Amino acid sequence: MSEKIRPNNREQLRVLISRARIARRVRELGRKITRDYKGESVLLVGVLKGACIFLADLSREISLDATFDFLAAASYGAAGESSGQVRLVKDLDTSIAGRNVILVEDILDTGVTLNYLVKLLRTRKPKSLRVAVLLDKADRRIQPIKVDYLGFQIPNDFVVGYGLDYAERYRNLKDIRVLSGEDS
Ligand code: PRP
Repeated sequence: MSEKIRPNNREQLRVLISRARIARRVRELGRKITRDYKGESVLLVGVLKGACIFLADLSREISLDATFDFLAAASYGAAGESSGQVRLVKDLDTSIAGRNVILVEDILDTGVTLNYLVKLLRTRKPKSLRVAVLLDKADRRIQPIKVDYLGFQIPNDFVVGYGLDYAERYRNLKDIRVLSGEDS
């Protein structure tokens, strides 16, 4: 691997989606968003922390007047299993009333987080609200959610890189990789 980050002895990191494929897909999504909102401005709302790299790259493929804001959510429940309850850890800095909001997420899993955030943002009366998600683990869904701009469908593997972490590590890997070995 080219990155200087090394997994520990028992961890393996195989590439699932290369940086070149990510870049191609992000460019396509950016072009589609540019076409869809022609003549309008957009507010990109990133969900911290995982979405920050996707948002940074996607925004630079969007040829529109664009602004950023960020929020953070956490779900109750231990060991990565969502209990179905979400709380807002960091709210937006700005009002979204009357704005074209695109909620930007790195990964859609059970759908609990995005359902909570979409419902919350709708109460604030944006002009429009759409969802952009880089990775979708559809097999894991327990709450349906409509995604307007999707990067890739992926299997139910534990993925890291390009913003996604394992215990806060690996977010800065350039490719999306499957982490395995520690528990297997
Ligand atoms: C991830 C992801 C979503 C959520 C999706 O965040 O960014 O917010 O999980 O899961 P769900 O569809 O089951 O609700 P995570 O809690 O890993 O935080 P992070 O972005 O700070 O890594």
